[in-house]
Amino acid sequence: MTVHWWQTCVIYQIYLRSFQDTNDDGIGDLRGIERRLDYLVSLGVEAIWISPIYPSPMVDFGYDVADYCDVDSRFGTLADFDDLLVQAHRRGLKVLLDFVPNHTSDRHAWFVESRASQDNQKRSWYIWRDPAADGGPPNNWISDFGGSAWEWDKVTGQYFYHAFLKEQPDLNWRHPAVQAAMYDVMRFWFDRGVDGFRIDVLWHMLKAADFPDNPPNPAYRSGMGEMHRLLQLHSTDQPEVHKIAAEMREIADSYGAKGQGERVLIGEIYLPVDRLMHYYGGERPGVHLPFNFQLIDTPWAARSLAAAITNYEAALPPGGWPNWVLGNHDRPRVATKRDQAQARVAAVLLLTLRGTPTLYYGDELGLSDVAIEPSQVQDPRELREPGLALGRDPVRTPMPWDDSKNAGFTTAKPWLPLNADWPTRNVARMTEDSRSILTLYRRLLALRRDWLALSIGDFVLLSGEDEILAYERRHAAERLIVALNLGAQPHRLQLLDWARGSRLLLSTEEDAPLVEGGAVLLRSNEAVVLKAG
Ligand code: GLC
Repeated sequence: MTVHWWQTCVIYQIYLRSFQDTNDDGIGDLRGIERRLDYLVSLGVEAIWISPIYPSPMVDFGYDVADYCDVDSRFGTLADFDDLLVQAHRRGLKVLLDFVPNHTSDRHAWFVESRASQDNQKRSWYIWRDPAADGGPPNNWISDFGGSAWEWDKVTGQYFYHAFLKEQPDLNWRHPAVQAAMYDVMRFWFDRGVDGFRIDVLWHMLKAADFPDNPPNPAYRSGMGEMHRLLQLHSTDQPEVHKIAAEMREIADSYGAKGQGERVLIGEIYLPVDRLMHYYGGERPGVHLPFNFQLIDTPWAARSLAAAITNYEAALPPGGWPNWVLGNHDRPRVATKRDQAQARVAAVLLLTLRGTPTLYYGDELGLSDVAIEPSQVQDPRELREPGLALGRDPVRTPMPWDDSKNAGFTTAKPWLPLNADWPTRNVARMTEDSRSILTLYRRLLALRRDWLALSIGDFVLLSGEDEILAYERRHAAERLIVALNLGAQPHRLQLLDWARGSRLLLSTEEDAPLVEGGAVLLRSNEAVVLKAG
């Protein structure tokens, strides 16, 4: 069996604005990442995914792209990016960019042309529709950020569609010229040596051709965010999107075929597992890794986690490679959803499941969501629907590096406040502490490299009852057992015959757990990895 780099690697997500500032403006930049490459190597990750780097009005902090083939001056220059790539590759780190193909900024030259007149040659690059009979929007679709997804353009007398902000008009992916232009963007970065892309909102890219109304969502409750009033039946996840994914994959694969190194595509897709699986492709392969967000949303209990993991494993198509995520720049941090003790257990889970894990910057420090004063809110998601706790600023705060001014992140005022406990919760301090979650992450990442069973071995569920989740990971002669205590009570886990006499490889506690009479005594909130035989 050929093992690909994107199957065994651990991906580290960098929210660029918040990682490391080097030009004293309070926001992170590409040279900042370069400065911290040795940290990433010492942590033990093998790939980084960087949030959008392109010129942008920053209405949605870079997810509103004004030029796909350049770098925003706040983040650096193309030359800085090339340097970063060289330095990362020199250290054996792969670099993935965030590709935002569903929509552009309203300042992108294509949209400026498109909105100039109904007969502009770029008009059909975006989604323009006449008003409904009553003069209102063409249908009932709601933006993911609340409000109608249609914006009236009084100059040309039509509405345009935006799945997110009105400053983020959706491209018309049914137009061959749009496809060709965006495929060229992918080649532009691949030619520079980028190892892959995380593709933003892949499931949004195609909409039903006749734009019917979306049906109401019977599960809608107030407080959920207005987008949940409707089921996005016609505005997302259309079958034609798979052809686009297959074409993107063909472009990525062409580099590997030329002997220029295998490139990877990861799709951001929030869908139930059965529909998610289609993004692996059918006759033609789709993306390598449709993001699996199961661990973010599943209740933190052994039975639900066991069910989520086994259902996901069972749903994978032949050859489909699994992947796991605990958090990202859009969702509450794991240390907030759980607590500090369970954030450690979650780390063990993330790094011992079968498949490629993506680790969100700061989670290795146990960072929690940071409360943001109303006057300091930056995120348009919060500003559009305030008070529903939908804002994403709390999970995007600066990385605390040490106990110097502003945690070593910047010499200026950080664009978002630091975590209040930064004087102790920072990389330098936690590196010294053998009990810190950072030390635990380092040990887990090292263990994953030492034991192939942890990344590519088979997964067998051993226990998913009460508060204990336990499973075996097996590869060739390697048999490892992972046992997680998801609660605060101690538990006794009886080992099967083959596992008696196992030795401890790692515990979230400092001293070894008791192994007694063929059973492991797991202390409160303890997770262990054992080696059988
Ligand atoms: C994705 C991004 C999110 C962004 C949205 C619109 O969901 O992860 O941060 O706001 O797309 O581009």
